[in-house]
Amino acid sequence: MDECKLVLIGFGAVGQGVARAISMKKEMINEKFGISLKVVAAGDSSSSAICQDGLDEELLLKTKEETGKLANYPEYGSDISGIDILDAVDYDVLIEATPTNIVDAEPAKSLTLKAFADGKDVVTSNKGHLALFYKEIIEAKEKAGVDFKFEASVGGAMPIINLCQETLASCGISSIKGILNGTTNYILSRMTTEGMTYENTLAESQQLGIAETDPTQDVEGIDAACKVVILANSVLGIDATYDDVEVRGISDVSLEAINLAKEEGYYVKLIGEVSRKQLKVSPRLVKKNSPFAIDGTLNLANITTDLADDITVMGKGAGSLETASAMLTDLINIIKNK
Ligand code: HSE
Repeated sequence: MDECKLVLIGFGAVGQGVARAISMKKEMINEKFGISLKVVAAGDSSSSAICQDGLDEELLLKTKEETGKLANYPEYGSDISGIDILDAVDYDVLIEATPTNIVDAEPAKSLTLKAFADGKDVVTSNKGHLALFYKEIIEAKEKAGVDFKFEASVGGAMPIINLCQETLASCGISSIKGILNGTTNYILSRMTTEGMTYENTLAESQQLGIAETDPTQDVEGIDAACKVVILANSVLGIDATYDDVEVRGISDVSLEAINLAKEEGYYVKLIGEVSRKQLKVSPRLVKKNSPFAIDGTLNLANITTDLADDITVMGKGAGSLETASAMLTDLINIIKNK
């Protein structure tokens, strides 16, 4: 493979991050791996830009920023959207970055299955289809004989899935325990250090763009629970789905509880736990001097292995370019294996 034709579907913060990362790194990728990346289509929820000869990533970003719609991309803007884009262009890898939907996992599920059925590789940042239909998706991928990578779905830029599956391939992994949601870690950190109430901290994090306008998935532990399911399946080989996770979020964690814990030398953190005994997300006490006592939007995971003992990783759990870094690494790994 000396050219890799890409379709980017989902052009929000993560999709735009991927376009930016490709623009920044395509020369390096060409020099180092001898592969020329070419974005042949990019789609948002209602439009796209499609050109078999390649689109300019910077112009895609400018068009989206200035006009809100990829349909306005000069000459190649179109009203084709969603799954139809996959029939409108010849491509090698689908980069799927649509919003996570944990009701029916759409459009991620249909896009992914369609790409597999067409014999295409897929890189995703999405959690919904993996949390609800992991087994079905992996079976379809295997039947199609294609590559499918999803490092960005857990922990954003924090290396975890490839680390466990590849770097730690010699080890048995018995559990992963971690802070898997940056928004709630930010809220709990601010409550702890500034003595702010949950409601005020949530409002502040919404103003800063850390929490979503509808923060339910983050504050109720749903986002972290999806990540627990993905790790359970992909790392520990547990056949689990979202309903197997015991989930409690942080919306009922009071400032009084946080202050009491602090007086005793503890912080309250939303912890995701993955082991054969339990799949759980809940607010837990962690010692002030433990690795789990991290501030802000960071994520952290402690991996318990048989040969290598414990390994702890930490990194930015969200962010446009940060999450895109994991997707670009997945893409490079796919290309290297061809
Ligand atoms: N909303 C998530 C978080 C990032 O706050 O960690 C995407 O999974």
